[in-house]
Formats: sequence, structure tokens, C-alpha cells
Amino acid sequence: MAAAGLCSILATAASLFLLVPTPVTAFVEDLDDSFKENRKDDIWLVDFYAPWCGHCKKLEPVWNDVGTEMRTSGSPVRVGKMDATVHSGLASEYGVRGFPTIKLLKGEMAYNYRGPRTKEDIVEFANRVAGPLIRPLPSQQMFDHVQKRHNVLFVYVGVESTLKEKFIEVASELIVYTYFFSASEEVLPEYVTLNEVPAVLVFKDSTYFVYDEYEDGDLSSWVNKERFEGYLQVDGFTLYELGDTGKLVAVAVIDDKNNSAEHTGLKSIVQDVAKNYRDHFHRDFQFGHMDGNEYINSLLMDDLSIPTFVVLNTSNQQYFLPSKPIKSTEDMVQFINGILDGTAEAQGGDGILQRIKRIAFDAKSTVVSVFKSSPLLGCFLFGLPLGVISIMCYGICTADTDDGTEEMTRKDVIDQNVSDEGSDEEQDEDKKGENSTEVSDADQEEKDFIEKKKD
Ligand SMILES: *[C@@H]1O[C@H](CO)[C@@H](O)[C@H](O)[C@H]1NC(C)=O
Ligand SMILES: *[C@@H]1O[C@H](CO)[C@@H](O)[C@H](O)[C@H]1NC(C)=O
Ligand SMILES: *[C@@H]1O[C@H](CO)[C@@H](O)[C@H](O)[C@H]1NC(C)=O
Ligand SMILES: *[C@@H]1O[C@H](CO)[C@@H](O)[C@H](O)[C@H]1NC(C)=O
Repeated sequence: MAAAGLCSILATAASLFLLVPTPVTAFVEDLDDSFKENRKDDIWLVDFYAPWCGHCKKLEPVWNDVGTEMRTSGSPVRVGKMDATVHSGLASEYGVRGFPTIKLLKGEMAYNYRGPRTKEDIVEFANRVAGPLIRPLPSQQMFDHVQKRHNVLFVYVGVESTLKEKFIEVASELIVYTYFFSASEEVLPEYVTLNEVPAVLVFKDSTYFVYDEYEDGDLSSWVNKERFEGYLQVDGFTLYELGDTGKLVAVAVIDDKNNSAEHTGLKSIVQDVAKNYRDHFHRDFQFGHMDGNEYINSLLMDDLSIPTFVVLNTSNQQYFLPSKPIKSTEDMVQFINGILDGTAEAQGGDGILQRIKRIAFDAKSTVVSVFKSSPLLGCFLFGLPLGVISIMCYGICTADTDDGTEEMTRKDVIDQNVSDEGSDEEQDEDKKGENSTEVSDADQEEKDFIEKKKD
């Protein structure tokens, strides 16, 4: 009797377990090879995933929410997912190189999503890219409304012109990053004075700037450089995005919670230079601050004590540090001018020695982080020579195949190509071809294993 009772309790427990609701996937369509023919004129937001990839698994619940949100908001965008290992031919036609890859497919265009993988960010992206390339602002109210919602606002002013054609062309490429609007001159705020119309303006930093073809070069690179506010809070992801602009990134590295004059003063100096020396520096520099030195230290493989000021060249991994502490705006201007005229000495770089240092540094940080999170595992792994080798491999492999914004490392910032199409973080993995799936699988399992241990 007792045994039977136990059995029934177990059975109930088991059935309860089975009754746990499976995630709602009704609004996410499973896509296969027929997608190419069937997608027709619809706009699609597609997650190309691989079943073994950890970041894909993390994305799945978010993706279901995205599907639900797009459907309930009445958006014309259809949301799907495709197992890119099964439909590899089609996936590679769409330029899928790493997992997960999120793309919005609209007509002939395929737009890559590279932002944080949260519902809000992905939905915002889909609505922006799926909507009109140029959004008209018919009234002052509309202009004010939109200006309140966007920190950076690109506006075309005037009637049809070749400049407008260029503006549309640029928008079709850069809508992945920002919105584009058009307005008539009457709709603009009163403080705007234009010497000529048509014109392209950017409203930001509580003022506006007018595009000048002669001084600013082509419109596309101007938009790309102006799409950030003059002063930013910089984190790993912003740094990665800023890589596309080709600007040097000048940041105060401070502790945001420290209210002492050293920290707040340095921040104010950077803000002052960003604002009042914009004409001198904005073409070459992006200003901002970073909270904490952890990220920057792993990026530079250095040990900077905060507060400090550093200028990064994301295209060749070099950086500049002032030789004496910066106490005033003048000190900073002098230091930055030194970088511009080539007298400041660069450190770091992407030479062979730096690469070796990077491998050693990554291996060391892996060892340290494993020991920190789980000393027992550390002892176990490092007690065995095999463990040492495997962890070194792990360090080296992840340095090349890391994905996901959470784990963005210096490599991600630097290897990022400016191209919008198909550039993703796991390119190295792709080059190995489909037949290396097993290798990647093993890598991933090892990674998952270590991630679990870290947790
Ligand atoms: C704030 O920064 C100063 C200078 O770096 C440092 O001496 C002080 O200990 C910091 N205070 C806190 C609360 O971290
Ligand atoms: C930054 O790196 C690029 C690419 O190597 C180089 O052309 C440029 O001169 C560098 N800028 C500075 C200020 O060193
Ligand atoms: C980046 O992309 C462009 C095409 O958009 C290509 O010409 C260039 O070779 C690429 N660079 C790298 C490093 O892949
Ligand atoms: C994978 O291996 C099979 C059999 O060896 C071969 O036919 C196929 O072309 C390979 N695929 C790739 C992408 O290398």
C-alpha cells in the first residue's frame, strides 16, 4: 500500500512536471527552405540559430516575446526563426556567418541587427527599419514631439533635389542605426537659420549642425560620424559601435559613484572640451566617460588606476595616455592636440607582440576568473596538465569566436568590419565551413561547462 501511495505521489509529481507550460511560439514561424519562395513581399524578422549555440538558447524566450509583441502591436513584420544548420544553403545565401544572426528582410535588402538582444531593442529596430525610410514631419508639434524622443535627429529640409536622393540612399543603408526625417523650413524651431535650402541637418546636444558637402565629405560618412551625441557614457557595446565611425574615442575613466572632485572634475573637463572645442575635435574624436576601469583594463591589458583619461584608436588598437594628470581644460586640449599632430606617444597596437600578449593575457584572465568563481574547479583543472592545456585552448578559442554583446572583448571592437552586410562576430568559425560543426560543438560545450561553473 505504502509503495503504491509513493508511486502515485511520484506519478503526480511527474505529471505536474510535464504540465509545465511550454513557451508560446505561436507568433514565431518556423522557417525552412521554402521560405525563399514563400516570403514574397512580406517584411521578415528572422533569427538564424544553431541548436547547439548557447546564446541562441538565451535568445529564444526573448524571440518569442518579440513575436508576440510584433503581432499584438499590429506590425506588418512577420517574425520567424530558422535552424541555420539544417537549412545551411539558404542561411549562407542570406550571409549568415555566426549564431545567432538576426536579420530584417525587406525587399532586396537584408538588415543585420547588432544591438543588445533584448525585446525592447529588437522591436524598436524592427519597427524603425520596416517603416518608411524618410518620415515626414508635417507640423511644428510633430517636430517637437519627435525631437523630445530622439537625442540625435537627422532632418532633410527642402523639396525634391539631388541632395534628397542622396539622403534617401544614405537612409536605406543607415536606417539600421538611426531615424531619418524630412520637414519644410517653417516647421523647424525658430533658432534655426539656414543659408540655403535644400539642406541636411542634425539636431543634437541642444543645438543643430548643418551638413556641408565641401567640408564634411560624403553624406553617408557624415551621418555615420554624427549619429552619436557629442558626449556619451561609453560601455563595451558603445565602443564596438563607435568602431564604425573611425573616430578616436576620448574617455574619462572614473567611478560614477565617487563624488570626489577628482572624478567629477575630470568628467566636467571632458564635457567642456566636447562642447566648446567641437569645431576643432569632433571630426576626429568622440568624447565620453566610462564607469569603472575593469573593461578598459582588459581591453588595454593594462592596469590603469582611476580616475584617468585615455584616448583609444579602435582601428589599430593603439591608445594614448597623458604623461601628467589632467587638471584643466587647457591640459586636455594640449594633450589632444599632441595626438593630432603626432607628438603624443601611442601605446599598444595590433603588432605580433601585442597579439602574443593578448593570448597570454586572455589565458591568464581565464585562469584567474575560474579560480575566483570556483577555487575547487580551478584546483581540479590546473592540477592536471591536461586541464591547463584545455583551459589555454579555451582562452585562445574564445578570443576568436566570442559572440554576444555581454562578452564583448577588444577583439570584437577591432575586428568589426564597417560593412552592414553579413559582418558578425563569429566569422572565424564560419571560415571553417559546415564540416567543422562538431569542433564548434565541442568548443561550445566546453564553454557552456565553464559558464555553468562560473554561475
Ligand atoms: C574616490 O576617489 C578618490 C580619488 O581617486 C579616492 O581617494 C577615494 O577613496 C574614492 N572614494 C570612494 C568612496 O571610493
Ligand atoms: C588610428 O589607426 C589608424 C589605422 O591604423 C591610423 O590610420 C590612424 O593614423 C590612427 N590614428 C592616430 C591618431 O594614431
Ligand atoms: C570589409 O568590408 C568591405 C566591403 O564592405 C571589404 O571590402 C573589406 O575587405 C572588408 N574588410 C575586412 C577586414 O573584412
Ligand atoms: C562536408 O563534407 C562532405 C563529405 O566529406 C562534403 O561533400 C561537403 O562538400 C563538405 N562541406 C563543406 C562545406 O566543406
